[in-house]
Amino acid sequence: MFEAIDHRRYLIPFRSALLPQVFTDTLVIGSGAAGLRAAAAAAEGGEVIVLAKGALDMSSTAWAQGGIAAACGPDDTVDLHFEDTIRAGAGLCAPEAVRVLVDEAPGIIDELIAHGMRFDRDETGRPALGREGAHSVNRVHHTDGAATGRELVRCLANWVAGLDVVRVFDGCFALDLLTIGAGRDRVDGRVAGAITFHEQFGLQIVWARTTILACGGAGQVYRETTNPKTATGDGLAMAYRAGAELADLEFMQFHPTTLYVAGAERALISEAVRGEGAHLLDHEGVRFMPEYHELGELAPRDVVSRAMEDRLAATDAPSVFLDVRHLGERFAKRFPTLAAELALFDIEPARDLIPVRPSAHYTIGGAWTDLEGRTTMPGLLATGETACLGLHGANRLASNSLLDTLVFGRRAGRLAASVAGPPVAPARIVSDIDTTSRAELDLDDVRSSLRSVMWRNVGIRRDGTKLGDVEEMFEFWARYTMDKIFDEIAGWELQNLLTVGAILTRAARARCESRGTHERSDHPGPAAEPPAHVGWRRGCGQPILHPADIGVKTGEEQPA
Ligand code: FAD
Ligand code: SIN
Repeated sequence: MFEAIDHRRYLIPFRSALLPQVFTDTLVIGSGAAGLRAAAAAAEGGEVIVLAKGALDMSSTAWAQGGIAAACGPDDTVDLHFEDTIRAGAGLCAPEAVRVLVDEAPGIIDELIAHGMRFDRDETGRPALGREGAHSVNRVHHTDGAATGRELVRCLANWVAGLDVVRVFDGCFALDLLTIGAGRDRVDGRVAGAITFHEQFGLQIVWARTTILACGGAGQVYRETTNPKTATGDGLAMAYRAGAELADLEFMQFHPTTLYVAGAERALISEAVRGEGAHLLDHEGVRFMPEYHELGELAPRDVVSRAMEDRLAATDAPSVFLDVRHLGERFAKRFPTLAAELALFDIEPARDLIPVRPSAHYTIGGAWTDLEGRTTMPGLLATGETACLGLHGANRLASNSLLDTLVFGRRAGRLAASVAGPPVAPARIVSDIDTTSRAELDLDDVRSSLRSVMWRNVGIRRDGTKLGDVEEMFEFWARYTMDKIFDEIAGWELQNLLTVGAILTRAARARCESRGTHERSDHPGPAAEPPAHVGWRRGCGQPILHPADIGVKTGEEQPA
């Protein structure tokens, strides 16, 4: 499987000298919270180009609901936030990264407010704080109940629009990172920008002194997901092809409560709803979470998702239910956008049960970075859901992701701003692909088979035999998909999904233990040896181990 995938360096054949060229100091690929925050910081050191493959509101950020965690309440401290994060991470959080996250969190909220972000307020005028799973106090800052992401994108997009040196290209798809100083199969080059495709302007080369990957996650690799259609793991696949290390991909977080109406798009029902007191009932009307965890419905997400899977299997039902009937009219008041969404399906929460089931939500793994976003390749930084610095360990604490994008997006942007040097010079890059096989595949069919197989066999519960079968399946798909050249975004996305799905499956098979979101029925419980982050790099068939107790790398160990 890895031969077919590792063989590909670029998705399309091209000659850089023959394409239109654009130059910038920093190229940010992605316009979610991570990309926009990084761009605002990078703008302090020169010109910035930001790419979004769709519209600005087509990102996980724009869809975020519950909010942003920060220890600002009277009964809260950054140490408590630190402890909750570490506990949720199941022994694999990098403590230095968590420390930075929680310490910088209150300042991030102040900064957003200073840039015009509206948060819901309590009767005293202070930001109202919500509660979510595994948090020991209320600390989640939210907007319009559960429409925090929409307001965050508005705020950050406005901020960036006010910066003359930043240009945002939407509808611009990055196919691959450009590396200079690397042979065809070598992975020791320097990243110098990207090749992009715009529906109106076609292919283009963007040369950049620093490139920041902020492409979000890969939820679309699963049939059931809360993620937008754009979350196809492009950043992870691009980084892998260029030679950067990816780590911890086996840790995919499954969110317990996705609205389940057969045939309709899956839509998240925020964990904040359970924070307000919602119960989970099975098909027989039994409230089951207290049997599984002392925190009941507010147990960590992995615990709730697994309990729901058990219940679905035991009752042979397609969903369980969120019950908010006892909240009466309070539900619609606190969550107006959710109430409106449910009304589309004629669900009236004060009267009806809400059918829910778990789905893939958050890609914990990503391009392996340090605290400033340096990947293992010079010239390439990564941030947000595309990155992995060990921060979330084996299970992310609710509402720590938007915070992660803002804290570490800012750090990556500042590093990019500080990189001095002459203007980027164009290099001659020739991508010759040793196949002329133009693709004639039913892309929708392959994409949907891949997503179903991932959901069934690499989902909430895994076992070694099935993972082995899926690896074989990927080998088969990779043989006839990775040797083709596509000329449309759907084909490139499929190749990216295939790359990420294959690495995720291999990583899940290699981790012979159960930890956090990764549950192996053939290896119940954590392994006896000390936990480690596991990395994968193109052309290096063996996993790369980073013992968790060594902690996150410091800047000096990584190339700038
Ligand atoms: P995204 O916001 O996903 O942005 C990715 C960007 O990359 C997009 O602009 C996309 O167009 C661009 N892109 C991708 N590929 C390419 C390409 N090939 N070329 C060009 N551009 C590309 N977390 C919380 O902390 N609190 C919450 O309340 C919360 N609620 C959530 C609700 C939902 C429904 C979902 C799906 C997630 C939620 N999360 C929440 C998680 C959080 O929203 C995400 O982890 C976070 O927003 C990721 O931000 P990002 O900037 O890394 O990526
Ligand atoms: C939610 O609102 O339940 C999502 C929060 C998160 O993913 O952190």
